[in-house]
Amino acid sequence: MKTFLFFLGAIGAKACQRERAFAHHSHAHVKRQGSNSTFPPVLDPNEQILLNSFDNTSISEWSYYYTHGNHIAGLNQTMAQWTADRWAEFGFTSRLDEYFVFLNYPIANSLLLTYPNGSTYKPTLKEDVLKEDPTTSYPDSIPTFHGYSFSGNASAEYVYVGRGQQVDFDRLEALGVELEGKIALAKYGGPFRGLKVKNAQDHGMIGTVIFSDPGDDGNMTEAKGVAAYPAGPARNPSTVQRGSVQFLSTYPGDPTTPGYVSKPDSERADRTNITPQIPSLPISWAEAQPILQALNGFGTNGTQVNRTGWVGAIPGVTYSTGAGSGATLSMSNLMNDTYGTIWNAVGVINGTNEDEVVIVGNHRDAWIIGGAADPNSGSAVLIELAKAFGKLSATGWKPKRTIVLCSWDAEEYGLVGSTEWMEEYIPWLKNAAVSYLNIDVAVAGPIPDVSATPDLHEVSTSLMKKIVYPYRGATNLTLYDVWVHEGGEVGVLGSGSDYTAFLHRGIASIDMGSGGGPNDAVYPYHSNYDSYAWMERFGDPGFHTHKAMGQYLTILLYHMVNDEVLPLKPSGYVPEFKKYLTALDATVSSSDYNIDLSPLTAAISTFSAAARSFESLRDAAVSADDSALLTVQNHKARDFSRGFTSQGGLPAREFYQHTIFAPGRDTGYAPVTFPGITESITFDRNQTLAQAWVGRTARAIEIAASILQT
Ligand SMILES: *[C@@H]1O[C@H](CO)[C@@H](O)[C@H](O)[C@H]1NC(C)=O
Ligand SMILES: *[C@@H]1O[C@H](CO)[C@@H](O)[C@H](O)[C@H]1NC(C)=O
Ligand SMILES: *[C@@H]1O[C@H](CO)[C@@H](O)[C@H](O)[C@H]1NC(C)=O
Ligand SMILES: *[C@@H]1O[C@H](CO)[C@@H](O)[C@H](O)[C@H]1NC(C)=O
Ligand SMILES: *[C@@H]1O[C@H](CO)[C@@H](O)[C@H](O)[C@H]1NC(C)=O
Ligand SMILES: *[C@@H]1O[C@H](CO)[C@@H](O)[C@H](O)[C@H]1NC(C)=O
Ligand SMILES: *[C@@H]1O[C@H](CO)[C@@H](O)[C@H](O)[C@H]1NC(C)=O
Ligand SMILES: *[C@@H]1O[C@H](CO)[C@@H](O)[C@H](O)[C@H]1NC(C)=O
Ligand SMILES: *[C@@H]1O[C@H](CO)[C@@H](O)[C@H](O)[C@H]1NC(C)=O
Ligand SMILES: *[C@@H]1O[C@H](CO)[C@@H](O)[C@H](O)[C@H]1NC(C)=O
Ligand SMILES: *[C@@H]1O[C@H](CO)[C@@H](O)[C@H](O)[C@H]1NC(C)=O
Ligand SMILES: *[C@@H]1O[C@H](CO)[C@@H](O)[C@H](O)[C@H]1NC(C)=O
Ligand SMILES: [Zn+2]
Repeated sequence: MKTFLFFLGAIGAKACQRERAFAHHSHAHVKRQGSNSTFPPVLDPNEQILLNSFDNTSISEWSYYYTHGNHIAGLNQTMAQWTADRWAEFGFTSRLDEYFVFLNYPIANSLLLTYPNGSTYKPTLKEDVLKEDPTTSYPDSIPTFHGYSFSGNASAEYVYVGRGQQVDFDRLEALGVELEGKIALAKYGGPFRGLKVKNAQDHGMIGTVIFSDPGDDGNMTEAKGVAAYPAGPARNPSTVQRGSVQFLSTYPGDPTTPGYVSKPDSERADRTNITPQIPSLPISWAEAQPILQALNGFGTNGTQVNRTGWVGAIPGVTYSTGAGSGATLSMSNLMNDTYGTIWNAVGVINGTNEDEVVIVGNHRDAWIIGGAADPNSGSAVLIELAKAFGKLSATGWKPKRTIVLCSWDAEEYGLVGSTEWMEEYIPWLKNAAVSYLNIDVAVAGPIPDVSATPDLHEVSTSLMKKIVYPYRGATNLTLYDVWVHEGGEVGVLGSGSDYTAFLHRGIASIDMGSGGGPNDAVYPYHSNYDSYAWMERFGDPGFHTHKAMGQYLTILLYHMVNDEVLPLKPSGYVPEFKKYLTALDATVSSSDYNIDLSPLTAAISTFSAAARSFESLRDAAVSADDSALLTVQNHKARDFSRGFTSQGGLPAREFYQHTIFAPGRDTGYAPVTFPGITESITFDRNQTLAQAWVGRTARAIEIAASILQT
């Protein structure tokens, strides 16, 4: 899934979310960065074999395959097998792992606006068929709908609720807007879409319509003179964002098997607390326009509402709350609720150290026939990566650590394939997983983006210096140069892609990709226009960014499985802890609570000392060429982050166990740091609970420290 708006930094529920797409930099004069200014980068012979194997044209062929057939979750076993077969050709032992999960598919839906004078407007709820974009006219094109949405009808007056976050609803309540029994009209962006529906439902509303808005497209809008797709890079006005409305921040995976694997005979739990109980529909900005306009002049206008992100850029719309407009919506959403088989393709090359495993994952399923960016830019890259390791293996090279490639199904519905797989293999993963490397939207634009656990910061950034990265016509830059130019920050993992299940079992994880900024082609996220035709013309002409991202993932995987010293750096957590602590301090200060953070600061000091002595002992093992000691140290580096997890999970969400970072309960994508403590303050508003979580978080950090020391 992975949204195209990037969020950075530690946030509390009240702190602002910085949307990466609008934190821009001048594009001229990109500097060569770092102490190593050799260009092109100097590579060792194995690195040369791997990186030289990459070919933009064969990547484009893999991309073409993935983007010309229906591959919504659970409907394309052939594509799963094709993926496993390619990996097998390149020397991986491959198989399909099957799960039997709850899914739903659209049967029929409709929307009708009735004006106070009785006349009506009926949106088509369809995206335009374009002759320039062949997959938009496929007979089996998938309608616009929300995955895991509720089957039902609703007919009522409606209210504009901004981005649909709790703070937006708080504002509406303060303005005295009646919500009960009404339909919510919400704007995409900000929190995960399922949480918009949840918040509406929790306020007694009976349906939700969610629209895209060109106000989120930076400078690339028709209003600013840019032609719309297919003529140009602005958003086609009929673009609709499909997507899941599961309550992702409570738990991911099959909603009928929380915490355990979905097999045909698995017991099924009630899913009503994790999927919406009111209907929802996504619509385009063009079709939202009359619906919003019918609210103009009613209730409080958008400017006066005075909320960040409330006012968008649809022409002729005041983004008024609309209370008392007299206009009504009638919506109907009929889904086929069903259980079906999903297929994860898995490819393995055994390492010589059987108890050290690196997993590389990408999802394969898409909401549309295309999916050229989300997720199949990553899928194409993963085939090319397998090919590169095939070439290296042909020289007699063997990895020290086992490589496991995974092509997940049903990610889009709620990280289902990866979560069920983790739940099936958890004992083995807890023992052996060294790290999980995720690539979802490998390419949606020219700007690289990496988020990772802090122990992966150093290796992931230093290897950027070995990758030549195409950037706005320049061919003499490394990925590192571009990444620094674009802000040079490794993000904190929240959720929205398949690293989630691994991260929350204490496995070091990274998520990488690239996207567009405010002056780049608008990425048609979860729309029919996320197609091969769009990618070839606007997303990545020449497939050069695909190649560079693939080379980056490949070189990272190579060092993770090949280096004597496992390249995880526990001390990477220390400066991050300090940042998170500063943010927490601010959250505490701006609350009415008196919370003693000293157990946490003490635990961080303990961890800091443990990480230092761990690293000097590891250095000593290298100097003394003591392979037994190095193995012990490598295993500590593999294991220590398991200590950060809390068995019972975070408050009100057992699945999410990581005490250092988690998706916000009301953001879904964006992370919250020290989530147990922070959200006890900002979300539960419970001082006792917050103080208890200071203790739990401190203990988790101490356990991580003790694993490094023993
Ligand atoms: C890359 O090439 C351009 C054009 O030749 C030049 O202006 C620029 O300084 C070079 N950049 C670096 C970092 O060497
Ligand atoms: C530059 O990179 C090469 C290849 O990785 C390495 O051998 C060399 O020591 C590096 N030089 C500096 C100054 O970092
Ligand atoms: C599965 O995907 C392939 C490749 O895109 C496509 O050729 C095939 O028609 C799809 N199968 C189904 C059942 O849609
Ligand atoms: C009813 O109201 C709508 C919206 O104001 C307007 O466009 C339409 O012309 C009106 N129809 C009639 C029959 O007055
Ligand atoms: C949009 O374009 C204007 C004029 O070129 C520029 O000043 C502004 O920074 C751009 N906006 C963004 C968000 O990049
Ligand atoms: C808008 O909200 C900010 C704080 O969120 C406040 O400082 C400002 O006075 C408000 N403006 C109006 C017009 O209410
Ligand atoms: C919103 O209301 C304020 C105060 O009444 C007014 O100044 C402003 O022009 C209105 N904006 C729009 C877009 O109607
Ligand atoms: C829901 O709405 C649809 C479309 O208007 C209609 O066909 C159906 O009968 C309605 N169902 C119920 C239960 O009212
Ligand atoms: C619903 O899905 C089942 C398979 O799970 C299928 O047999 C049935 O035909 C579908 N019903 C409709 C109305 O699409
Ligand atoms: C890889 O290792 C596993 C576990 O030890 C073993 O079952 C499997 O046969 C090995 N595969 C190959 C191709 O050697
Ligand atoms: C691959 O790159 C070459 C060299 O830039 C270019 O000529 C070719 O068209 C690219 N292939 C594809 C499929 O875009
Ligand atoms: C606050 O949290 C504590 C500890 O979990 C719990 O016992 C108490 O009931 C909570 N208070 C409220 C008002 O929810
Ligand atoms: Zn995705």
